Amino acid sequence: MHYFEYKGGELHAEGVSLSRLAREVGTPFYVYSHRTLVRHFRVFDEAFASVPHLVCFAMKSNSNIAILRLFAGMGGGLDIVSGGELFRGLKAGVPADRVVFAGVGKSDEEIAYALEQGVLMFNVESEEELANVDAVAGRLGKRARVAVRVNPDVDPATHPYISTGMKKSKFGIDIAKARAQYKTAAALPHLDACGVHCHIGSQITQSSPFVEAVEKVAALVRALRADGHGIRYLNLGGGLGITYRDEAPPLPCDYAAAILPGVRDLGCTLLFEPGRVIVGNAGVLVTRVLYAKSKEEKRFVIIDAGMNDLIRPALYESYQEARPVEEAAALRPKHKTDLVGPVCESGDYLAKDRLLPEYRRGDLVAIMSAGAYGFAMSSNYNSRPRPPEVLVRGDEYHVIRRRESYDDLILGESIPAFIAEGGR
Ligand code: LLP
Repeated sequence: MHYFEYKGGELHAEGVSLSRLAREVGTPFYVYSHRTLVRHFRVFDEAFASVPHLVCFAMKSNSNIAILRLFAGMGGGLDIVSGGELFRGLKAGVPADRVVFAGVGKSDEEIAYALEQGVLMFNVESEEELANVDAVAGRLGKRARVAVRVNPDVDPATHPYISTGMKKSKFGIDIAKARAQYKTAAALPHLDACGVHCHIGSQITQSSPFVEAVEKVAALVRALRADGHGIRYLNLGGGLGITYRDEAPPLPCDYAAAILPGVRDLGCTLLFEPGRVIVGNAGVLVTRVLYAKSKEEKRFVIIDAGMNDLIRPALYESYQEARPVEEAAALRPKHKTDLVGPVCESGDYLAKDRLLPEYRRGDLVAIMSAGAYGFAMSSNYNSRPRPPEVLVRGDEYHVIRRRESYDDLILGESIPAFIAEGGR
């Protein structure tokens, strides 16, 4: 469900035509629909209205401060994975006590920063990390709330790069060893082991892996309580998938109906870390066709957005739907097409071997479902300034991140005097 629709023959974001945006902000650009963002956050949040809960938006999927502030205003918190994300979240105005800090490799500086700011809790991924969080907290005279991230060994049936809950993955602690970890944690003076965390992967399109994981962690919570640990929070991570092509993932209300029976009676505050399901279909990347050429039965359409702007197809062979901004273009003859960017890499494509209408120089193409892990994973590879991000609300739009300039590209770089003077 989203608010990118054809109106009067042109693809619009809510009430603003994408061709108008292209004229006014240039291409390529990311555009988000405010109404879609609000709707997705609300639908997820309301699915859990019957239990105490906090939706900690996984800001790795989209870290623009305007979007973070929007969700904070709706009562949301954040799932962060770095000091930089904490900084962004605080700048956006998200209260620190609604922030959970996850990630396999938190540095001492990051742990100290998060403790000083007063985050809600750390999701801890190893025994060494438990000891280290305790040590840093001790130095600062603080007590750190922690949840151990347990790995329930469930196959989420998704892309291997985004499966995290199986034994062979680097994430979390084997659930069978979790009770021993809590015993260790309880003996550390500066820790309050008040939660259990679990996240099994991303772009999960069925309820069953979630249900399987929830059963295992609920049993663990009961065992930990029997061992005398005061578990008050259960963090079930993120991972709910979206429709990129023809997937039919459970709706948030179906997901809630599937998992709540297994956890309701625990009386824990439930934490969730959704990213993609909130923002994925709320954003598109708009790009213009630079050139087209035909080679060996295939048409190469060269667009002005590349893998540096949206890396998902190159990295995961992911499918992102491409739609012409001008509706009538869809009626043109179709050709087997690669939609490729200007970057000097063969992997630089946004669509491959796809039957697409005959795109021509100057056409605008909307790459759909680009709101999650789109701009957030963009880079300056090939010294390409990153595109702007635009937020549409009704018939108004706001540039929430300007296009980078050439000067931005060299920000922070310097030439040592011996090189500047011609030395070697
Ligand atoms: N919580 C944890 C601990 C995570 O590792 C992740 C995602 C999330 C929450 C949010 O998952 P989501 O609800 O968005 O599925 N770059 C990849 C996805 C990587 C996901 C990493 N972890 C992609 O573009 O598909």
